[in-house]
Amino acid sequence: MNTDPAFPSLSILDHPLIQHKLTLMRLRETSTRTFRDLLREIALLMGYEITRDLPLDHIAVETPVTTMPAAPVIAGKKVAVVPILRAGTGMADGLLDLMPSARIGHIGLYRDPETHRPVEYLVKLPPVDGRLFLVTDPMLATGYSTAHALDVLNAHGVPDSRIRVMVLVAAPEGVRVVQESHPTVPIYTAALDDGLNDHAYIVPGLGDAGDRLFGTK
Ligand code: URA
Repeated sequence: MNTDPAFPSLSILDHPLIQHKLTLMRLRETSTRTFRDLLREIALLMGYEITRDLPLDHIAVETPVTTMPAAPVIAGKKVAVVPILRAGTGMADGLLDLMPSARIGHIGLYRDPETHRPVEYLVKLPPVDGRLFLVTDPMLATGYSTAHALDVLNAHGVPDSRIRVMVLVAAPEGVRVVQESHPTVPIYTAALDDGLNDHAYIVPGLGDAGDRLFGTK
């Protein structure tokens, strides 16, 4: 895990497997199918890291051999996974491989092509009930969509202390925007890239994550 002093809420997950798979995703010629598989695999690996501190309870269990008085299990109401539509679903799949009983919320936003600001078209969220909400979106570009999604969760009753953001590639501009509006929400990324181009695409980035994930144009 790597941190950048300019971005105190950002953690860069620099595990070699994550970095290798991300490089394959960046390649222009990587197919839709491979891109989708890699995103899911990376999300699973990142999910393993970002759930390291989930609290444990201890329960008594009968094994075939004996009674175990204090076997560890995840405590409480566990986790909700909230992809930002549509590309966030590709990362949510990897988290759900890891935590199949997690609740799933959806926040549908599209980017206004002129202003690059998010326009909301769908919000469906599970009950808060003390859950940890993991927000997924592969590309943290301008940061407006992520900041908007965090505002939506706050309005739904989820405090920042129960939210984590998981992205694949982040731009410094986007990290700054999220950090300014939600300074205590941890952001996890596989890479911090150079910045945004005139079309608000991340450079070097990997192109349009939604189009590459779904094979659209
Ligand atoms: N969304 C994408 O899919 N890619 C970018 O580079 C920026 C936003």
